[in-house]
Amino acid sequence: VEDGYDLWLRYRGLAMVAQARVATQARSIVHAEPASPTLQAAVAELKRGVAGMTGKEAASATQSADGALLLVTPANAPKGVDLPWSELGREGYALRSLKLGGRAVTVIAANTDTGLLYGSFAWLRAAQTGADLSRLDLRAAPKLGLRLLNHWDNLDRTVERGYAGASIWDWWKLPDLRDVRYVDYARANASLGINGTVLNNVNAKADSLTAPFIAKAAALAEVLRPYGIKVWLSARFSAPKELGGLKTADPLDPAVRAWWKAKADEIYQSIPDFGGFLVKANSEGQPGPQDYGRNHVDGANMLAEALSAHGGVVMWRAFVYAPDTGDRAKQAFAEFQPLDGQFAANVIVQVKNGAIDFQPREPFHPLFGAMPKTPLALELQITKEYLGFSTHLVYLGPLFEEVLRAQPDGAPVAQHVKAIAGVANIGSDRNWSGSHFDQANWYAFGRLAWNPELASSDVAREWVQQTFTTAPRAVDSLVAMMLASREAVVDYMTPLGLHHLMGTAHHHGPAPWVDDLERADWNPVYFHRAGRDGIGFDRTPRGSNAVAQYAPDWAARLARPETTPEDWLLWFHHLPWDYPLRSGRTLWAELVARYDRGVATVADMRSQWAALKADIDPQRHADVAAYLAVQEAEARWWRDACVAYFQSVSGLPLPAGTRAPA
Ligand code: GCU
Repeated sequence: VEDGYDLWLRYRGLAMVAQARVATQARSIVHAEPASPTLQAAVAELKRGVAGMTGKEAASATQSADGALLLVTPANAPKGVDLPWSELGREGYALRSLKLGGRAVTVIAANTDTGLLYGSFAWLRAAQTGADLSRLDLRAAPKLGLRLLNHWDNLDRTVERGYAGASIWDWWKLPDLRDVRYVDYARANASLGINGTVLNNVNAKADSLTAPFIAKAAALAEVLRPYGIKVWLSARFSAPKELGGLKTADPLDPAVRAWWKAKADEIYQSIPDFGGFLVKANSEGQPGPQDYGRNHVDGANMLAEALSAHGGVVMWRAFVYAPDTGDRAKQAFAEFQPLDGQFAANVIVQVKNGAIDFQPREPFHPLFGAMPKTPLALELQITKEYLGFSTHLVYLGPLFEEVLRAQPDGAPVAQHVKAIAGVANIGSDRNWSGSHFDQANWYAFGRLAWNPELASSDVAREWVQQTFTTAPRAVDSLVAMMLASREAVVDYMTPLGLHHLMGTAHHHGPAPWVDDLERADWNPVYFHRAGRDGIGFDRTPRGSNAVAQYAPDWAARLARPETTPEDWLLWFHHLPWDYPLRSGRTLWAELVARYDRGVATVADMRSQWAALKADIDPQRHADVAAYLAVQEAEARWWRDACVAYFQSVSGLPLPAGTRAPA
């Protein structure tokens, strides 16, 4: 039964011809002895993959024969073979088909065993996606040094914004009992090159820093270490008070500084390669340095000092907003940009892709490109808090690609960041992610984190080939569905730059009418500002002037509706309902047309999926079909609720040809 547990590492039997092609290239595996745990993991994965795909065993060997896979580092590379070591760095790899003493072999080369592990996964990916394994010449090295998952785990098996069952971290049983799932988690992440994981929620409980939890984290670190994955923890800023009995958590207080230093030393005793702390401070009620009249630099640098002796890093989040600033979208920039250049060398400021909060579409965050003296991390959300949870099929590759390629000031966001983090969508559901297609979002995050220049369409294709089928027509159809799905969710939830229209707290389903929450900047009406006169948030110089936070070219472009990308229109402008759009329709007619288009796309996705019944195993086909039915119903719900509400405000008749809400 295909239940999705194997993710994209299925290694199912290939068709006869392909089987033979793979088998002849992997008759044996030659590697250094004794093998480190990392090298053992690489060899085991190759053996597992070859056996699964071909039904034949690839045995370990000491001599290279025809069809051998050679795993080499500079220490055991065959003489006379010229390999691009200096380009591979610490984590990169090269795959090359060549003749060695007259024998046809494949070399997997890397400077480290971690590189060999990544290279082995790359070879398996090539095998599963039908590459010509007899003519390999690939090389790859990651562009970003830190590629992290952020788990929003609450230490009690619940996951904030988790839609895939209980947390995979079984804290009650750790450290003694180590679920085999942790190894499969490590394999899946290593196959993508993810090299760090923050175990607990950014809304952190101080408990994560107590001795029992450090021991549990250390047990996980032991499991993950061979796979090149470091463990990190979210740290609660007030922990010196809660755990240390201090009266204050003031970052300039010597006793507080000493407490953090001792805490860091204690952690590194158990986890010598501990990654560092992720911190959410003075945001949504979390404690932070501002509670003591200090700023983000004071807070981050204090933690940085505690970690620096051990090579640890502080990821300090820029997701901050407070009531009454006039425009919530402006606050992170206002608080952080003036601090550029003041953070310690081992602090990275972690910035969400957009200035509000993981909406179906947001313009890129104005901090990218605006803090040239501070290393930044891009934070993406893999779990679909605002995009239909795990029920809606939405492939996030295009969203990730859109922000990585956005050009704040001539260079893409990908070049303005040193690190990347994804809020994980992983839980203990059998299929890990709550739905089969949500696995693709984990996959796409990891692949784009490794190489931000990959096209999300290519990533979708290789995921489909490994996860579902290699039959070309089915692959094309699945990739087309996935690529259409992101625009569909934007259309049926928040077209034309609308944002934050969802129901309170749970964030599932439409509620554009809500206007009575305790904080103004939580109300949907605050964001859409619809009235008789029109709709949209004026962020031009006449309004909140958030556009001024962008580099001059963008600021000028975004200040005028005619030069603002239409997909962002109502994010930056408040416009009359009859404002003419490029389609020739009025704003009102275009809004309704986009809501309709979103629903129609989901209906198409459903029929495309139905037509693939013969290509997909029955259980997964039925699972996805059931989810798509829910998605279509909920897309209609979003459209009908939003169109009816905006109509009640605009007072305009439905454009001709529009179906009246049911
Ligand atoms: C969103 C989300 C919260 C989360 C917060 C964050 O507001 O709804 O659950 O804690 O983002 O990223 O800190």
